[in-house]
Amino acid sequence: QNLSGKTAFITGGASGIGLGIAKALLSRGMNLVIADIRDDHLEDAQKELNSPDKVLALKLDVTDRAAFKAAADAAEERFGKIHILVNNAGVAVVGPVEQASYDDWDWTMGVNLDGTINGVVTMLPRILAHGEGGHIVNTASMSGFLPHPGTVIYTTSKAAVIGMAEAMRAELEGRGVIVSAFCPGPVQSNIAEAGKTRPDSMSDTGYAESDKRRQQGGDFFHLYKTKEEIGERVAQGIENDELYILTHSEFTEGVEARTQAMRAAVPDNLPQNEELKQVFAPLFF
Ligand code: NAI
Repeated sequence: QNLSGKTAFITGGASGIGLGIAKALLSRGMNLVIADIRDDHLEDAQKELNSPDKVLALKLDVTDRAAFKAAADAAEERFGKIHILVNNAGVAVVGPVEQASYDDWDWTMGVNLDGTINGVVTMLPRILAHGEGGHIVNTASMSGFLPHPGTVIYTTSKAAVIGMAEAMRAELEGRGVIVSAFCPGPVQSNIAEAGKTRPDSMSDTGYAESDKRRQQGGDFFHLYKTKEEIGERVAQGIENDELYILTHSEFTEGVEARTQAMRAAVPDNLPQNEELKQVFAPLFF
């Protein structure tokens, strides 16, 4: 779709990947709402985007449903209609699963999954109502497909938003709203600081200092892609109506191995019921 003159609402849009997406969409002539829990990120992002006429910066905690509605109202008041929702705000905790506390689970699932649910419940009816078409991007992660040790909570949240995107895509097919599961590999961002936004009410963590350090990304940061590269990739994915927006070919073998493992798990030589097959035929593969 032609993006110029339309409006995108990006949660976690004031830093890292969300800001990269904002830059790419701004360069395509879009109006932007960047909604973020951190005031300092909002201030810095407005400077970096340097387009006050096209950018509305809103403070928003995506886990606050009333605030999400208020943000949507403010966005519509400023720009009329929202066409693109990027459910991008996310946090991460890393460490052995048996040490995870309920607060570790609740905080991560609350932002990464419930925040995305809140975005969809708030925005999808509005997007469908204006009838000009739209696009919802759920920021997941390659971790949602290819988990590795220490990332059980994060992977659980990201696999959930991939499934949500796939199911919404099938359901909204033909109604003018495209849905994408965006699964980046490693990107230079501020996610290692995510703990700064963790509410005091959920501060009981089961993880030790060494796990928190592991979360900093080790010495590999320079190998990660930039937010600008990733933002461009997402903008192209939106323009091309892609279901999966992937960013890193380094994971190709992993993707193939996962797909092959699933195929190999289907017992061969079982009788097939053609009618049943048609009933459950996937809509988009
Ligand atoms: P980031 O920390 O630079 O940006 C995330 C933004 O979300 C921050 O500005 C933060 O203030 C905001 N945020 C956090 N909690 C929020 C809340 N409750 N409500 C509203 N805003 C909130 O991190 P990054 O890496 O750009 O993360 C963006 C998304 O990309 C996340 O969903 C993350 O899980 C995902 N991702 C990141 C990867 C990476 O390597 N950086 C790889 C794969 C996925």
